[in-house]
Amino acid sequence: MIESEFENVYGAPPLELAGDTSRLPQFSPLVPGAQDLQDVAPGTLGSLIMLAPPGTIERRYALALALRALKADARLTVLAPKDKGGTRLAGDLEALGCTFHESAKRHHRICVTQGVGDAKAIADAIAEGAPRFDEALGLWTQPGVFSWNRIDPGSALLMNHLPDFSGNGADLGAGLGVLAHGVLASAKVTSLTLVELDGRAMACAKRNVTDARVRFVQADVRKLNEPSLKLLDFVVMNPPFHDGGAEDKSLGQSFIKTAASILKKGGRLYCVANRHLPYESVLKDNFRRMTMVAEASGFKIYEAMA
Ligand SMILES: C[S@@+](CC[C@H](N)C(=O)[O-])C[C@H]1O[C@@H](n2cnc3c(N)ncnc32)[C@H](O)[C@@H]1O
Repeated sequence: MIESEFENVYGAPPLELAGDTSRLPQFSPLVPGAQDLQDVAPGTLGSLIMLAPPGTIERRYALALALRALKADARLTVLAPKDKGGTRLAGDLEALGCTFHESAKRHHRICVTQGVGDAKAIADAIAEGAPRFDEALGLWTQPGVFSWNRIDPGSALLMNHLPDFSGNGADLGAGLGVLAHGVLASAKVTSLTLVELDGRAMACAKRNVTDARVRFVQADVRKLNEPSLKLLDFVVMNPPFHDGGAEDKSLGQSFIKTAASILKKGGRLYCVANRHLPYESVLKDNFRRMTMVAEASGFKIYEAMA
């Protein structure tokens, strides 16, 4: 395997374009345990390769944080698939006042620059992408996290059908903590663990859900290995079905299998899904009983008993 020529990495750039970056210090909020570019003292970081995120505001924010963090002579290599922000990279770097070289390879655009840009443009992009309290939502949120500026209609439907839970439970893929508010309305709930991969969402959830019964775990639900999460009374979730910008039905199916594995016998899963997603057979295979509680506006709510 070719060792990467970089000192730091953001995300998981393809091996054939970046070499093996798996052992480099990681700065993506989507990797549990990663460092945060926000915390790096300005002008101190060595070279960085970044698989740029797809959303415009989050991409400019990540680029601006990288430019601020890097030493002036350190190399910043940023790449993205053409159809997931790649064609926008040159415009983003121009707007940030960078001089760069652009090339194309394996359906990616690749731009190489250094840790130098327009200080005001960098500060503006950081301010535009930063976490903020959204008055209309009544929540802390940040561009780039799931449904960051509106309540997802699937989550809203699930909220309307949540029973009064009791005992210990988990919210898998908890996002900003929207469902937690509905669950914690029941005084009989003794504990709720919010599991979420995205460190930005989790940081917001910690500000949004301050109930003493709550615990937070940043983890990939597909590889969940949390000793305290077993024999639960209930699980709630609105599982993701996109990975890296592409639809991935197996993601939600893995969430269902994980839910089954952490519930006690008789424990209940409440789950919402877009109507077109093929979850029913996985629910039937992994639970003793499964019923559809509601169907509206293109979503289905399932209750399944372990
Ligand atoms: C459809 S959203 C639901 C968010 C929140 N529960 C709500 O109702 O607003 C799914 C969430 O799962 C998170 N997620 C995606 N992949 C994950 C994974 N492998 N492990 C844990 N969380 C994941 C996403 O970051 C997102 O916040």
